[in-house]
Amino acid sequence: MGAVRWLIVLVGVALAGLGAVAIFGQATSGTQPWDPELSDNFIFVKSIPFVLGLGVAVGLARGRGAGAQRRRADGRVERFRIGTVVGHWIMTIGFLLALPTGMWQYLGGILDVRAPIDLFLFYRVHYVGGAVVLFGVASFLAYWSINADRSLLPPRGQWRAHLAGATAELPPRLSGPIARLFRLDLAARRPTPDRFTYYETGFSFPVWTIALALITVTGLIKAMRYVYPIPGGILYWASTFHVASMVLIVLKVLDHLRYTLPRWPMMVAIAKGWVNEGSIRSLLAAEPTAAPAADADVARAPAMSGSDR
Ligand code: HEM
Repeated sequence: MGAVRWLIVLVGVALAGLGAVAIFGQATSGTQPWDPELSDNFIFVKSIPFVLGLGVAVGLARGRGAGAQRRRADGRVERFRIGTVVGHWIMTIGFLLALPTGMWQYLGGILDVRAPIDLFLFYRVHYVGGAVVLFGVASFLAYWSINADRSLLPPRGQWRAHLAGATAELPPRLSGPIARLFRLDLAARRPTPDRFTYYETGFSFPVWTIALALITVTGLIKAMRYVYPIPGGILYWASTFHVASMVLIVLKVLDHLRYTLPRWPMMVAIAKGWVNEGSIRSLLAAEPTAAPAADADVARAPAMSGSDR
């Protein structure tokens, strides 16, 4: 990493550190009469600008990435850059903290059950998880804004083909009705993807994007009410969609595990960044109705050479 990138990270960390000292200084000064729950709400909402700023600094510091994909003599290729690997697991930690605590807040209220520990502790952990997710989203967006690689998305004009490829991966009792609903031609020949499977480009990444956009925007609105008077109607819909996106994310995590766990080379790739090229190639070649590019009726997916992952 060059000096400028380190400088960006250092400024981000310094500002976040100063922010944390000021925020916790206020909260522990003894001059504020809030109970623990209300105090946590204020700490969280005041921290958000610093968390987002730090995320942007880290995302920008990652830079545009190298040129061609890196290879090692032992046949391994760099599928994910180290920043992507770390970002992925940061996001996972955020979800592990925010999802169970969010579900408890919602279901505990509906079912009228109480945990043996104070409710404000659930909120506290939820806010820590929410802050981790906000950091992950901000750094990912900043990284994407300076990075040209879009291989996780279908190329322009190929959305339906990629959606059909993703649907074809499902068991027939699911893929049939979905294909009829969206009028997808599952039998159409598709080329073997070069880098990500049709499930990843046509379904997984777009659903993650929608779910994360929903949960972060609605979460930000809910948190903002402690510093800004949000109209009741907006707050109602923000809360409703916050819960709806939580349910969507729980389902998506299960689906993500259903897909990735049996494809072990993918797990190796997301854990180490580097993976044996032959094992990933055989996964891609196993894509349903894959056909040689020569007689495929959709253009080839972007070449695997881009390294800005
Ligand atoms: C719960 C633990 C998780 C496991 C075990 C896991 C596993 C994996 C694996 C193995 C890959 C690599 C796929 C490949 O090589 O193409 C991957 C990619 C990816 N993961 Fe996760 N993941 C987890 C959580 C999450 C979470 C919480 C998110 C939410 C943002 C996420 C978002 C992604 C995205 C966007 C990709 C790129 C491809 C795609 O969309 O499927 N993952 N994950």
